[in-house]
Formats: sequence, C-alpha cells, structure tokens
Amino acid sequence: MDEVAPEKEGIHEWLDGDQFPEHLQKYWFQRKKIWDRYDEGIWMTEDAWFGVTPEPVANKIAAHVAESTPASKDILIDAFAGVGGNAIAFARSGRWKQVFAIEKDAKTIKCGKHNAKIYGVDKKIVWVTGDCFNIISRRYNNLDNSVIFASPPWGGTDYLDEKIFDLSKMQPYGLDKLYSEFSKYSKHIVLYLPRTSDLNQIAKYAPKDGKVEVAHYCVTGASKALCAYYGDFDFGQEEPEAAQDEGAMEIEKQSVGEENSSQTAAS
Ligand SMILES: C[S@@+](CC[C@H](N)C(=O)[O-])C[C@H]1O[C@@H](n2cnc3c(N)ncnc32)[C@H](O)[C@@H]1O
Repeated sequence: MDEVAPEKEGIHEWLDGDQFPEHLQKYWFQRKKIWDRYDEGIWMTEDAWFGVTPEPVANKIAAHVAESTPASKDILIDAFAGVGGNAIAFARSGRWKQVFAIEKDAKTIKCGKHNAKIYGVDKKIVWVTGDCFNIISRRYNNLDNSVIFASPPWGGTDYLDEKIFDLSKMQPYGLDKLYSEFSKYSKHIVLYLPRTSDLNQIAKYAPKDGKVEVAHYCVTGASKALCAYYGDFDFGQEEPEAAQDEGAMEIEKQSVGEENSSQTAAS
C-alpha cells in the first residue's frame, strides 16, 4: 500500500516493535494472528486492538452466517464495524450482494476502509460514519433482506472477572437495547458477545417456543467469544467441528430457548 498512515490523527501503521506502545505489547506479539496480512500495512488505532475480531474467528463467523442465513437475505449490515475485522471477512465470503459497515469514530472507519483495500474488498463494502441506531433506523429501515451483525463494545474487561457476565451491564449498550433496536429492522440478528455472557439473558429474546443458537468461537481450546444467532438461521445437523485451515479454531454450538436456557461452560 502506498498510502501513508496519518499518524497525527491517531491512525498508525506500526511495522516496528520498538515504536509500538508499551501498554499494548501483548498485541504486538499477536498481530499476525489478528491480521494475516498485517505486514502489508494494516492501519490501527490504539483502542482498536482491544476490540478487533481476530481474522480466523471473523472468517469462521462469516462462514457460519453465510451458510446458515436463508438464501433470500443478501444484505449484511455490520453495525459496529471498527477497523473492519468482521466486515472484511463478510465481504471476502462472497455471500453478500452488499456489505454495509457502520462505525461512529472517524479515524477508526478510515482504518477499516484502508484495511479493506489490503484484502481487496474495498469495492464490496459501503462504509457509513455515524451512530448505528440512528443510521439503521433512517437508512436501512425497510430492508427485508438484511442480516444485522453487531460486535458492540463490551465495556472493558469486566466480563473476564465474572463467571457469568450480566449483559444488562454491558457498556454503553446492554443486550436489551441492542436486541430491541435491531429487531425493529431485521429478523436476522447476530450478536458477538463475551464468552461468559449469561445464556438466560440471551434466551429471553428467543421466539416463543423457539430457540436461539449460540456458538462459541475458540482459539487453542479456549473460547474467545460467542455469537447468539436470532432468527431462522439453519445450521442443519452440522456437528461441532475443528476447522482445518484456521489454526486451532473450534466451535461449540448450543441452543438456548425455553426448554434449555442453562449456562454451559465453553469448551
Ligand atoms: C468491538 S469494536 C468492533 C470491532 C470490529 N468488529 C472489528 O473487528 O474491527 C466496537 C466499535 O463500535 C464503535 N461504536 C460504538 N458505539 C457505536 C455506535 N452507536 N454506532 C456505531 N459504532 C459504534 C466503536 O467506535 C468501536 O469501533
């Protein structure tokens, strides 16, 4: 990439460990697990390191969403697009007529646009700067054919200290806000949440007599996060699998609903 990162705006293209912020050192060692093409000039902000979805996890989620969504749905809206971890994976899956990526922070979205170029999918993503609740209600309010994917901020690392994380305390948006806002505009919602999330709270929004699929996404045997799939996603009879081509990525799926809403340990 010939473009130069506008560092004065808080956008960085860190290629040298010596210049990498001390307090983020652990991410320096993980950078190529997070972005396979990191060395080709990925742009990041300091904050983005805490929230970006690592590429193998993003690819696996993109594959699941692609396979399980009814064929008639061909628009993917990434409500909290960040620096593009998920949006790029969705675009690369080739499943969607259009991927819309919404992000409220101007410097973060600049990184996302740039990173999409590195992965050759910049033409497949429409980037929209602003508040996702506002933008979805104004611009995407009559898209019957859309899936909304949301990887909201988790409000820091409190979820790590909790055996079961109370999703009503997730900051700045609790589960109630996320579900009630997005379900006005799409019947297919995928929420990317902390691995310790309270499954009883997730199950509260299951359709009557129905269920919600929850998949844990694991790296080297430990769950990194889970996705709750609201809507008629069809996972068929697929068994939990260990992906061959994504390092030590595994998933464990479980259904939660009225009949089964107990918290289960991640693999
Ligand atoms: C966890 S990060 C998303 C990371 C993204 N999935 C990735 O892989 O790069 C959450 C993002 O949501 C953005 N955000 C927070 N509130 C928002 C809102 N109301 N509308 C749009 N974006 C928002 C934050 O600026 C942050 O970049």
